[in-house]
Amino acid sequence: MSDEKRTAKLEIEGKTYELPIFSPTAGPDVVDIRKLYGTAGVFTYDPGFTSTASCDSTITFIDGDKGELLHRGYPIDQLAEKSHFLEVCYLLLYGELPSPAELEDFESRVTGHTMLHEQMVYFFRGFRRDAHPMAIMVGVVGAMSAFYHDSTDIRDPWQREVASIRMIAKMPTIAAWAYKYSIGQPFEYPRNDLDYASNFLRMCFSVPAEDYEVNPILSRAMDRIFTLHADHEQNASTSTVRLASSSGANPFACIAAGIACLWGPAHGGANQACLEMLQEIGTPDRIPEFIARAKDKDDPFRLMGFGHRVYKNFDPRAKVMKQSADEVLELLGIDNNPTLQVAKELEKQALADPYFTEKKLFPNVDFYSGIILEAMGFPTSMFTPIFAVSRTIGWISQWKEMISDPQMKIGRPRQLYQGATLRDYVDIEKR
Ligand code: CMC
Repeated sequence: MSDEKRTAKLEIEGKTYELPIFSPTAGPDVVDIRKLYGTAGVFTYDPGFTSTASCDSTITFIDGDKGELLHRGYPIDQLAEKSHFLEVCYLLLYGELPSPAELEDFESRVTGHTMLHEQMVYFFRGFRRDAHPMAIMVGVVGAMSAFYHDSTDIRDPWQREVASIRMIAKMPTIAAWAYKYSIGQPFEYPRNDLDYASNFLRMCFSVPAEDYEVNPILSRAMDRIFTLHADHEQNASTSTVRLASSSGANPFACIAAGIACLWGPAHGGANQACLEMLQEIGTPDRIPEFIARAKDKDDPFRLMGFGHRVYKNFDPRAKVMKQSADEVLELLGIDNNPTLQVAKELEKQALADPYFTEKKLFPNVDFYSGIILEAMGFPTSMFTPIFAVSRTIGWISQWKEMISDPQMKIGRPRQLYQGATLRDYVDIEKR
């Protein structure tokens, strides 16, 4: 932050208050209201944080009007095309692209932590077989704090580093085991000779009775899905992780809180909801009926995979995802997939409709991701756990940035109280 000399003037009942303005390296200026309550005795009101910067950060930048997403300055489409997930993890975590030696060292540190404590097997077994894999992930990740006592002290930078690596390394194992458990198959242990995406696919689809060959096309597509979901600045789950950790809670508990928040259909749960919606539509002739429902104020139905709080233009991740869906389905020989046809036609019709264009509602990352994941053989219930595996690096990077910031304070929003004022207790017989 810089340029503290510029100020905004706020007038309240004839009294003027000067508020510093900060200029970011990119994006809109920010008015600093931290001293407002102390000087003027008023709060600001912004439910949903539509105009509030909750922190300063150097990790990810989104220009919602242009449809631009940068990680440490690098555009997401370049990273999706030229880089790979673990390199993007390094970039997000440490701020720069790694040298070959740094990347090799990082990859070996991550692969050295892919196994879970064997006792955790019993923890998985405590769940009902029909538990949603996200429910298992919330529980198992939260329980990691009971298994890895040597990486829960957030004041120790070494422990923070170990916790970060553990989380990146173990999350695919946890998600794959949640899946295996739900279908009644034995857990597959990680294989450290495989790359991150191939190892995840193998842990999901391999069975002891048969060899499993990872298809390199699917592994590349999986890696790209991980990369596209890696971070997205102060979204709901990341803000949840930051708020949880502002109290000093251990990193595993904080990431479990992030997973819980991601689960909702307005956030990470949208990929499952979107594929289910496309399947419910079924054929292109039914699209107008669903578009009419999405526009109807009296119908709670929304087009899943459409709209975004920040993007008022195409989500740049959706563009890459759409291209990836075309490639994967063609390479798998299922290029006339009916769900993809419905998705493309729905996108076309919605973007030709003034309701969506005037409200700047465009396809988001979740619109096409489910189609790829389904083609790979994942059930819809695994879509959000895969989002959680990908977003873990974003949560961890933002958590690390926050913990190392000397300005860190416990997050404690205030409120616009609309309830009853002071009144005397009424005895039960008099009510
Ligand atoms: N279908 C129909 N109308 C919509 C949609 C939609 N998908 N999204 C927003 N609108 C309308 C909404 O009814 C409102 O209309 P009006 O101004 O007449 O009341 C207007 O657009 C603004 O909507 P909002 O709910 O105030 O916007 P928001 O910024 O609070 O919500 C959103 C953003 C992503 C929650 C919302 O667009 C939505 O529910 N989309 C569907 C769910 C979805 O795809 N979520 C994934 C987001 S990307 C991945 C992630 O972040 O996890």
